[in-house]
Amino acid sequence: MGKPDLTVNFAGIKMRNPLMVASGTFGYGEEYEELVDVKKLGAIVLKSVTLKPRQGNPPPRIVETPAGLLNAIGLHNIGVSALIREKLPGLRNLGTPIIVSIGGETVEEFVELIEFLTDAEGISGIELNLSCPNIGKRILAQDPAAAGKLLESIRKKCRLPLIVKLSPQVTDITEIAGTCEEKGADAISLINSFPGMAIDIETRKPVLGNTTGGLTGPAIKPLALKMVWDVCRVVKIPVVGMGGVMRASDAIEFMLAGAKAIAVGTALFSNPDIIEEIVQGIEDYLVQNGFASVSQIVGNLDGS
Ligand SMILES: Cc1cc2nc3c(=O)[nH]c(=O)nc-3n(C[C@H](O)[C@H](O)[C@H](O)COP(=O)(O)O)c2cc1C
Repeated sequence: MGKPDLTVNFAGIKMRNPLMVASGTFGYGEEYEELVDVKKLGAIVLKSVTLKPRQGNPPPRIVETPAGLLNAIGLHNIGVSALIREKLPGLRNLGTPIIVSIGGETVEEFVELIEFLTDAEGISGIELNLSCPNIGKRILAQDPAAAGKLLESIRKKCRLPLIVKLSPQVTDITEIAGTCEEKGADAISLINSFPGMAIDIETRKPVLGNTTGGLTGPAIKPLALKMVWDVCRVVKIPVVGMGGVMRASDAIEFMLAGAKAIAVGTALFSNPDIIEEIVQGIEDYLVQNGFASVSQIVGNLDGS
């Protein structure tokens, strides 16, 4: 048998393999230029961008926990105009699909962001961040009616594949996923971080400048996997699964649960070689188990 086929058509985005980098963990690409061969990646999801630049939260913004990271970046970003002007020209020559993640607090803000981006050159898709836990009160991902209205407003204006990123801060993640599919999402991305906190017992102060933050990494993997499995059983649109993918076997678990693509985030901070290792590991698994293509393992879970 020859080499297995790793290519994935994810909601119209042609990827050389199913591996993406998760929003917020790869900056605008250039931070990793020296460390990572971006041509090994299936797609790059940029850190969430807002209409206007944002300074984000006060430091410290990241703290290590026994099985992951707590972060409270607070959507620090350069704003959509600077992204288009300063970052996209370099990114579009990388030869790897670029997905722009957008964040907003009102429907109008999201609509304006889409208007800026839908005709910008070099973008393969939009990820709608409904789940940033660090700004506002109730997040859109917790309100299916509001999320549905938002999708109705932007779907008409967006000619790019629209991936909706969900938050785990809900009682039933399938409800919001179903609404997003019904209102025109092309794909679902899950999950974002879980809310968390750390306290310094000597100073008796919260460790993070923002008091609370979002937990990511190995600690959340079983929770993420269950949510991906739940969502994949109710929607027909493709899913990108993430949350604690540290090695190839984690990525394969997400694919067996039904994810058509996988994103890596926290693992990049400790091991930038992780991308090549995971892609190689997936290829080895396909060969060892007699699969001709990666699509054959998607949702191929025995006994569920
Ligand atoms: C430092 C940091 C910044 C993040 N920023 C964003 C962001 O801007 N937008 C977003 O949708 N998710 C953001 N995330 C969440 C990740 O995209 C991902 O959903 C989460 O980290 C789970 O994957 P992981 O366990 O592999 O890191 C961020 C995560 C980290 C660790």
